[in-house]
Amino acid sequence: MSNPAFADIGACVFDAYGTLFDVHSAVGRSREALGDKADAISVLWRQKQLEYTWLRSLMGAYVDFWQITGDGLDYALAANEVDDAELRRRLMDLYLSLDAYPDVTGALDRLRAGGKKTAILSNGAPAMLEAAVTSANLGARLDAALSVDELRVFKPDARVYRLAVERLGVEAGRICFVSTNAWDACGAAYFGFNVAWLNRFGQKPERLPGAPAAVISTLAELPALLGL
Ligand code: LAC
Repeated sequence: MSNPAFADIGACVFDAYGTLFDVHSAVGRSREALGDKADAISVLWRQKQLEYTWLRSLMGAYVDFWQITGDGLDYALAANEVDDAELRRRLMDLYLSLDAYPDVTGALDRLRAGGKKTAILSNGAPAMLEAAVTSANLGARLDAALSVDELRVFKPDARVYRLAVERLGVEAGRICFVSTNAWDACGAAYFGFNVAWLNRFGQKPERLPGAPAAVISTLAELPALLGL
């Protein structure tokens, strides 16, 4: 159903990891090697990866998301008493070819057919984003894959969201921002985007400033939200 907040959208800007790409697909493809520790490692890897982005932003100690992803994995493997350099190398490699969720390509195609610009705005380092986009065959479906790397700070710093306004040449009030990460949805709404929180996992809302204008459970709902 269309929603007045999304009546005049010029561009749809998507978070990458967790939203377009399934971060758990890396461990998912190494399940035999990790056995019953697989899910715990995958969840802790993601949790530490995110924590390190927030902490390093606060500390003024930026390193790119590739390094952070490796640091998060090292913590998760150590916490689960896994010491296997070859497995670590394979998991990092798999992060460059994560599965795209099955609703991604259809939604992007419908948005573009409806005249909307489409872009990624992500913590991911440029080379990581390029690899994931190419692997999932999304290149022709996106106008841009924007990385925080040139700003040397991570989401939810307002400078990150402003980058999309500047690069796409679309004012914040005409941008629809989509993220599965509830804290990212709040950050983007607090900045001034019209946010559709893609609540893929039925999570509770964060107690943070910035309210999403809509909550959807699959990207298939997005075109109709925009009146397409
Ligand atoms: C990103 C993280 C937040 O892609 O998933 O920016």
